[in-house]
Amino acid sequence: MLDSEVIKKDFIFFLKEKLGFNDNEIYINPNIVLKNKDKTLIEKFLKLKEEGIPLDYILNSSKFHEYEFFVDSRVLIPRPETEIIIDYVKNRFSSSIKVLDAGTGSGCIGISIALQNPSLKVYGSDRSADALNVAMINKNNLNVDNFFLVHADWLSSFKKESFDLIVSNPPYIADQDPHLENLKHEPNSALVAKDNGLRDIRLIVEQSTEVLKGGGMLMLEHGYQQQEEVENILKKNHFVEIANLKDYQDLPRITLGTLQ
Ligand SMILES: C[S@@+](CC[C@H](N)C(=O)[O-])C[C@H]1O[C@@H](n2cnc3c(N)ncnc32)[C@H](O)[C@@H]1O
Repeated sequence: MLDSEVIKKDFIFFLKEKLGFNDNEIYINPNIVLKNKDKTLIEKFLKLKEEGIPLDYILNSSKFHEYEFFVDSRVLIPRPETEIIIDYVKNRFSSSIKVLDAGTGSGCIGISIALQNPSLKVYGSDRSADALNVAMINKNNLNVDNFFLVHADWLSSFKKESFDLIVSNPPYIADQDPHLENLKHEPNSALVAKDNGLRDIRLIVEQSTEVLKGGGMLMLEHGYQQQEEVENILKKNHFVEIANLKDYQDLPRITLGTLQ
């Protein structure tokens, strides 16, 4: 889609969602008189769009699974492919297990799992204090009683055998990846990992062998070309029953394994 078409689509969404305009006011009535307040908001919106700021940051809102999350430039904007984790966990686990969402960002994964499965105890951890502040806003906005936040560098602060399930959407983009050009408004620390994008995945897998209970599961989101390498890292670290979930474009984006 052309840039100007994206701006037009986002602008119409903004007029409807934020300013409450209807189709008649947007498309038909050429003589509409804008209130000063709306005029200022429209000018601000167009300036931010021109700078390339993503719509979700402008609106401070992102839809993920069934829920609306507050977002700003301190956290990654939740992506639709990550929702696959939520559905998998809902269908697979029913008893009251302990879950960690490592690198929780806005809290979108951990909070959605907690809301979908009220009997689970879900922890969300992040190294970024800024991200944890955003996750706290979402915990409060969505009234989640079974979601708890922890400031931690991956799994280093957790006791041995603390969790039945660890899920993570870690940074996995290599620092020279040309896709980063289109992601420059999102935090680099949420996107980029050393060793060709695999450093954080490797750390999480290695640390999971201590922090997961025996028979516990690890689920990792990764780039669609990283499936084989992620599987090998899991195998090397005594994970079995390794499986892969595909995204809506049929690309392998989530790999999971059970700790032997
Ligand atoms: C790709 S974002 C995912 C955010 C959110 N879970 C989602 O799916 O939208 C990765 C997150 O990992 C966090 N992170 C990066 N390095 C970390 C580390 N060493 N320990 C804990 N969290 C880390 C980042 O701050 C960021 O919030």
